[in-house]
Amino acid sequence: MFDKIQTPAVLVDIDLAKRNIERFQAYADSHDLKARPHIKTHKLPRIAELQLAAGAVGITCQKVSEAAAMVAGSDRITDVLITFNIIGDAKIAGLLELSRKVRLAVVADNATVVDGLSASFAAAGASLDVLVECNTGADRCGVGSPEAAAELAARIAAAPGLHFAGLMTYPPVGGAPRVQALMTEAKALIEAKGIAVPTVTSGGSPDLMSAHLAPVATEYRPGTYVYNDRSLVARGVCDWDDCALTVLATVVSVPAPDRAIIDAGSKTLTSDLLGLKGHGHVLGRPDISIDQLSEEHGRLRTDGDINLSVGQRLRIVPNHACVVTNMVDGVYAYGKDRAPELWPVPARGKIV
Ligand SMILES: Cc1ncc(COP(=O)(O)O)c(C=O)c1O
Repeated sequence: MFDKIQTPAVLVDIDLAKRNIERFQAYADSHDLKARPHIKTHKLPRIAELQLAAGAVGITCQKVSEAAAMVAGSDRITDVLITFNIIGDAKIAGLLELSRKVRLAVVADNATVVDGLSASFAAAGASLDVLVECNTGADRCGVGSPEAAAELAARIAAAPGLHFAGLMTYPPVGGAPRVQALMTEAKALIEAKGIAVPTVTSGGSPDLMSAHLAPVATEYRPGTYVYNDRSLVARGVCDWDDCALTVLATVVSVPAPDRAIIDAGSKTLTSDLLGLKGHGHVLGRPDISIDQLSEEHGRLRTDGDINLSVGQRLRIVPNHACVVTNMVDGVYAYGKDRAPELWPVPARGKIV
């Protein structure tokens, strides 16, 4: 099926991606939770369309240019949340343009961001939905207390050109109890000021099937779940059979009985370890470890005879699917009744 494809190449099994999408959507529906998948995993309008067709209320993007590429790629994308502090005139101009095309929301965790958004949207006579990002233990962005969330919410609600739209968090693995506690308290404080909190949005694939443990959340944003990867298999969230994205590589050298070299290195598999040992899982060969990468070479080792020959092709489940997506101009989409077809990845490299 993949004989004609030059390697290294990224393959996406669309049937499996659909199954992953539908499985989470059924779970979300059964818990009255809105699904707003994060598209950084696939960066493909066509896969966003599958997520929306399954029942997602909209998409999540991380960056303005990424959102613009997604919106340009599908007229079915009409509702976008950007989960990032947007700073600077050029980026806010991009937001303004987007806000004329789709229902748009962004997040903020500080007054500088809020004031910058407000100045530009008020001057343009436009309105932007803004959610307060809360830190529930991941210690990345986010206000650190319910009181700080309430204070920032009030600032947004009072800011010309802005509309307070709710609370957002990206919790650490196992963070549901903290999400429930902090968001419930923040919501009550904000409502006590007479400000409505229509949305409380949380996310993350490692915990996607226990999102209901934080019932304060109205919405969930899983990203990696659409493809799955070695990190999620290692966490017991899925199996190898659920991994829709694989890297097709060719053995280019077998320099020693226990060692082989493939044509996929850090420029395809990326160096992202996500806490794991090794750089990917060779399908059908659990004995092999990918123990070293240079840019275009991957080194495979096993304890005994590696039993591979030059020219042989392998499929690898990467540690982290989302970063692999960003490395290639196109992925080969295939399925049971679908011959591999190169799908350009329009939002690849869109990091501003
Ligand atoms: C803000 C935000 N929401 C949702 C996600 C999706 O997380 P995951 O890929 O674990 O599903 C991410 C991932 O980076 C994120 O940064």
